[in-house]
Amino acid sequence: MPDKTLVKRYILEFHERDFTGVISRELRVKTLPGRATVIIGPRRAGKTYYLFSLIDGNAPERYLYVDFEHPVFHPMTPRDFIDVLDAYHELYPEIKRLVLLLDEVQAVPEWERIVRYLLDEGYTVYVTGSSSKLLSREVATHLRGRALTYTLFPLSFREFLRFKGVEHGGREFYRNMAKINGLLEEYLHFGAYPEIALAPEDVRGLILKDYIDVLIKKDVLERHRVKNVYLLNELLYFSLRAYSKYVSFDSLYRLFKGRLKLTKRTIANYFAYLEEAFALFLVRRHGRSPKGRIVAPRKLYLIDTGLALFGEKDAARDVENAVFLELLRRYSTKPGVEVTYWKDEAGREVDFVVSENGRVKELIQVSLRLDDERTRRREFLALLHASRKLNCKNLKVITLEDEGTVEVSLYGMKGNIELVPLFKWLLGGERLISSCDEV
Ligand SMILES: Nc1ncnc2c1ncn2[C@@H]1O[C@H](COP(=O)(O)OP(=O)(O)O)[C@@H](O)[C@H]1O
Ligand SMILES: [Mg+2]
Repeated sequence: MPDKTLVKRYILEFHERDFTGVISRELRVKTLPGRATVIIGPRRAGKTYYLFSLIDGNAPERYLYVDFEHPVFHPMTPRDFIDVLDAYHELYPEIKRLVLLLDEVQAVPEWERIVRYLLDEGYTVYVTGSSSKLLSREVATHLRGRALTYTLFPLSFREFLRFKGVEHGGREFYRNMAKINGLLEEYLHFGAYPEIALAPEDVRGLILKDYIDVLIKKDVLERHRVKNVYLLNELLYFSLRAYSKYVSFDSLYRLFKGRLKLTKRTIANYFAYLEEAFALFLVRRHGRSPKGRIVAPRKLYLIDTGLALFGEKDAARDVENAVFLELLRRYSTKPGVEVTYWKDEAGREVDFVVSENGRVKELIQVSLRLDDERTRRREFLALLHASRKLNCKNLKVITLEDEGTVEVSLYGMKGNIELVPLFKWLLGGERLISSCDEV
């Protein structure tokens, strides 16, 4: 049971904190009476700071922030939480309408009972956690209809520029164009964790290495009974080399089985743990047959391109990974939207298929450059084939520099393909252009 004196000291210290360094994020969450607002996302994406950004600087006492990973709150049962509330009310008897900020709730068993109790008592409740599965499972079973769930990812390029203090709207875009281009390189190379964006270059590697270690220890090992820590590490470091590439559990199995005692199931499980901890994403192939979708190789993307500094860096694959993450940011809250890849029997590939409730909305190809005639032809041809097969005319190629619309006609297939430079697409493409027109 938490010690009340220590809890009171914790609360008071929190109210004395200075939140002026907290930079605002793009995520906008809603609160509804009787519902908790749940924010999930990878460790270090900025969930705790996001909670801080919700605090009204003029009345911080109205907020009760509880970090469930803090030693003061261990061990804790749902019943013990009443004592924490009491401690708060003894300090601030005049405040009735307080807001609860519950951070990293998965650290306390049966946390959902605490949340249900607080909602029943009429409190406003925000919850964060860094396990996709634990949280969505508890929310779906015990908080059904009583939560709104959002995901917070590392910084978008727009947020990254804000963290760097560089304006990009309207005229400022043209003034800062050289800077923005340089920052795009940094964004792709060192990734988009908020702390990395703010840190001097010489310590970024150390911080990222620490993130990897903590992720393995806290978000995988402490949550699951992993027997083969060596294999888990191997799979993670393999992923840091193989991002934006296909992975097949079968070939990984063949690769490891001579050296280690393992089953294919173990590999699939360990990847599931890494996905659950938001370390990586395994994208499925587009297709109707459920069986085909399951056996087809997945495409692997990392939560952050900076992590690849501990694997094998590749500029083209950084770009593709960054596009994937931005698609997640844009669509992860839209119900029914799915991002897959497309590949046909002849081996033609389209990097991203965005569909909504089963209807294909957009086909996106990512390529560093298109000056090489063979690359150009290959990318366009795949798009035209996919366009015909999936009945979608919204075709796009994202590259570093190319811009405009091209009418392509190949082997009797025709289509208009839009070429968009990466920075424009990341900054919101169309929106940017229209805001520039107003200048
Ligand atoms: N909005 C922000 N403004 C300024 N710094 C931030 C912001 N978000 C994150 N950071 C930096 O990144 C670090 C990790 O963020 P944090 O909120 O603790 O992540 P999480 O709670 O998701 O693990 C912080 O300690 C801080 O240095
Ligand atoms: Mg946190």
